[in-house]
Amino acid sequence: MAALRLDVFTQIPHAFAWLTEQQPVAGVLGTELELRLFNYRDTTPLRAGQVDDEPYGGGPGMVLRVDVVAAALEAVYGGRPEQRVIALTPQGVQLDQPLVEELAEEPALTLLSSRFEGFDERIVEHLCTDAISIGPYVLSGGELPAMVLVDALVRRLPGALAAGSGEHESFSVELDGGLEYPHYTRPAEFHGWEVPEVLLSGNHGHIEEWRREQSRARSVR
Ligand SMILES: C[S@@+](CC[C@H](N)C(=O)[O-])C[C@H]1O[C@@H](n2cnc3c(N)ncnc32)[C@H](O)[C@@H]1O
Repeated sequence: MAALRLDVFTQIPHAFAWLTEQQPVAGVLGTELELRLFNYRDTTPLRAGQVDDEPYGGGPGMVLRVDVVAAALEAVYGGRPEQRVIALTPQGVQLDQPLVEELAEEPALTLLSSRFEGFDERIVEHLCTDAISIGPYVLSGGELPAMVLVDALVRRLPGALAAGSGEHESFSVELDGGLEYPHYTRPAEFHGWEVPEVLLSGNHGHIEEWRREQSRARSVR
């Protein structure tokens, strides 16, 4: 059984093709990760694949209907899912690494995306356990936010990253939640821009100390 099952509801399932072909998702798909994509249009009780409607009270744009989302959840789970159901919305709690770590503990999650004007508020209120924003700006749809969350969660799965590469990253416990120190690679000098001497010294104690200092200095900005 997969360590994590993610169910994403969207109007554009094919948007996720890119994500599933890239590392780290591609590497754990079918083993540590089960990713299921559902299109609201496939289970809508409305005619001609309709999923949204005009807002009551007037105004521009279309709103994702509560009956459509309820029917989609019913079709997949036979009722209300037992797992957390997350609405991706700019009005939600802002995603950060501690929230990613918390969600990564769950065996299964449902992610709901919307488009245009967003969700009928009753979806968020009655069908969801969480509302999450990926940042204080507005995107055109929930597909990119869903992919952001999927990618962040997948990085926490065993085998998703090369050994050690998920440690000492920005926001990790190893760096006390701070930012990562700077990295450099060859050439050691380019246009007069030199790599810090300590990194070329071979003295691992000094390198470790320098990195800690750099991380601390960046994190207090
Ligand atoms: C154009 S937005 C709707 C914005 C909404 N009318 C508002 O002003 O808050 C359409 C959809 O994109 C997704 N979305 C846009 N920005 C997002 C963000 N920062 N975080 C999470 N989801 C977002 C949500 O699923 C949202 O319902």
